[in-house]
Amino acid sequence: MRILGIETSCDETGIAIYDEEQGIMAHRLYSQIAVHADYGGVVPELASRDHVRKTIPLVKEVLADANLTPADLDGVAYTAGPGLVGALLVGCSIGRSLAYGWGLPAVPVHHMEGHLLAPMLEEDVPEFPFVALLVSGGHTMMVRVDDIGEYQMLGESVDDAAGEAFDKTAKLLGLDYPGGPVLAKMAENGTPGRFKFPRPMTDRPGLDFSFSGLKTFAANTIRDNEQDEQTFADIAYAFQEAVVDTLAIKCRRALEHCQLNRLVIAGGVSANTALREKLATITQKLGGTVYYPRPEFCTDNGAMIAFAGMQRLKAGTSADLTFKATPRWPI
Ligand code: KG4
Ligand code: ZN
Repeated sequence: MRILGIETSCDETGIAIYDEEQGIMAHRLYSQIAVHADYGGVVPELASRDHVRKTIPLVKEVLADANLTPADLDGVAYTAGPGLVGALLVGCSIGRSLAYGWGLPAVPVHHMEGHLLAPMLEEDVPEFPFVALLVSGGHTMMVRVDDIGEYQMLGESVDDAAGEAFDKTAKLLGLDYPGGPVLAKMAENGTPGRFKFPRPMTDRPGLDFSFSGLKTFAANTIRDNEQDEQTFADIAYAFQEAVVDTLAIKCRRALEHCQLNRLVIAGGVSANTALREKLATITQKLGGTVYYPRPEFCTDNGAMIAFAGMQRLKAGTSADLTFKATPRWPI
């Protein structure tokens, strides 16, 4: 079986073809970062328009890359939520229509399920059950995964998502959107120990997160210190260290709570090297392993939607002739 995946939930148009035996046969990604850069964040209307412009051409390119025609496909999967409603509607309407036109089943996919399953596209596939930390620009969630579709939410952010905290703090440091990766680069030149940021919500039981206080702490630290390059790097270092430590403390707690030692980490922030190193140490101490998607599949992409769509198609999910974009959708 072979499926086309379409991702348009935010500011990347991602298209891919996944084959059950061969894996990812082709994938393309168009990032709208340049479109939104001047505005310091994603402008929903511009995002929708750009998805309209890019989706069909990328579908054609991916089919050509894989040397396939629509007749070689068994289904069309598209992100149905959560995300920006206008952006989602583009992928849903194009995906549903292509499936109708090609006489194939249409498979709506949950964006976070896509992220959650992305590590399964790698050679070393995690066995069920495992604990997953999903850290993106829109979500921070700790989930127990017993099987495909069997998800138990263990904790989530009560305010900003981890990626959002990175982006907002990066903005305070004068960096362009999305500043997460740039802040991480800046932190490489930071002086350990010069600033100490809090580790929010780690002094009480539970697996929820709160990151908005770190952004305020960063704003105050910037205000009270010199505005030079080294100080900014030191602030970036202390901020990143606090986010990484907080996520790591909660991961260890979740693994102990579930009595598991397999940890999956996915979503844009899982590309962060400091986080990867810290979580590798923690899981090693528990005699376990940490699993990640390759860096290009950490952030939004079509491959994870094609893969999750395939699992859903095999389980018998397909949409009727209507389609629905669901901007808020619990996993
Ligand atoms: O999963 P994703 O591509 O989109 C959403 O579904 O939100 O995640 C994007 C987020 C952004 O906030 C971005 O700054 C963050 O992931 N990000 C990083 C890194 N790479 C991407 N944050 C910290 N360090 C990184 N290396
Ligand atoms: Zn995402």
